Amino acid sequence: MRLKAKTVLVTGGGGYIGSHTVKALQAAGYEAVILDNLVYGHRDLVENVLTAELVEGDIGDRALLDRLFSTYSIAAVIHFAAYAYVGESTANPIKYYANNVCATLTLLEAMIHAGINKLVFSSTCAIYGVPETLPILETHPKQPVNPYGQTKLMVEQILDDFDRAYGLRSVCFRYFNAAGADPVAQLGEDHTPETHLIPLVLEAAAQQRDAVSIFGTNYPTADGTCIRDYIHVSDLADAHVLGLDYLLQGNASQKVNLSNGNGFSVRQVIETAKAVTGCPIKVLEEARRAGDPPALIGSSDKAVSLLGWQPRYPELVDIITHAWRWHQKRHGWQRSDSKFL
Ligand code: UFG
Repeated sequence: MRLKAKTVLVTGGGGYIGSHTVKALQAAGYEAVILDNLVYGHRDLVENVLTAELVEGDIGDRALLDRLFSTYSIAAVIHFAAYAYVGESTANPIKYYANNVCATLTLLEAMIHAGINKLVFSSTCAIYGVPETLPILETHPKQPVNPYGQTKLMVEQILDDFDRAYGLRSVCFRYFNAAGADPVAQLGEDHTPETHLIPLVLEAAAQQRDAVSIFGTNYPTADGTCIRDYIHVSDLADAHVLGLDYLLQGNASQKVNLSNGNGFSVRQVIETAKAVTGCPIKVLEEARRAGDPPALIGSSDKAVSLLGWQPRYPELVDIITHAWRWHQKRHGWQRSDSKFL
């Protein structure tokens, strides 16, 4: 049974996965208060689409957190706010450890001080590093190969200690490749800079960029390009609501993969995008990108059995169709020869 009308603090609620989760929370009857410093979050989406309460500020600002927790009656926190560029984390690890670990520690301290003991945490498959076995289960060894993944693993470890010491119960969701957009195109992916494959492919389809690069064509995969497990962002959002319900029912802490269970190669993504958009997409075959494992595929069996989660949009064509609708709307892309306009 879902406990209604609880207020939930969503850090990073103006961002890609955060905003979709706020929409899902509201649909499930929760009140969401968003804490976002708007470095990457979008004020217009929070104010015009979500119409949620926005507290503009930083998760590392203890005085602000104390004021926030004494102003609102917060039942639980869903914590997305983090930096998430793998390449940048390698070049500038201080930025990542300071924000993703130290500022998170401040948030956790403030929660404990305020007596809030339930947290849904945004983790990543990057904590597993280069997989030894596929599909990846939650029990797979944790060997992150970049500081971004390391910061998320450190927070998971902190949460284990805080569970034992302070009774802070958490669900850590380890996402595979978040992709797609709200099916009715109210929300979607809008990163600056954009580094993710699907939006870059769609930019090439819309002639917003000359071509899309394929990073590596000699991997030991069927077509030589990397395989990833693309999971629809609205399915991720649904899982967060279920994880929250699970914690509010008094259950124990968990680590849970969120994946599609299907892998798609870079070339399959590009071919599907051509079919969805009806546009030609120019491709440049380039060298491998450092640190890319050949294939990442996750098992979501635990999310299904523990939380009753079922992805609504497991098909790549739906993921890319929803992303295409969103990008066209968000950026005003017009192409007379493309579909959906
Ligand atoms: N790729 C290209 N060309 C591009 C961009 C990406 O060929 O222009 C390839 C990459 O090499 C990779 C695949 O497309 O094989 C997907 O790349 P993304 O950058 O979209 O996503 P990643 O798999 O690198 O990263 C995702 C998340 C990270 C997370 C990581 C875990 O975005 O947050 O998975 O490995 F840390």
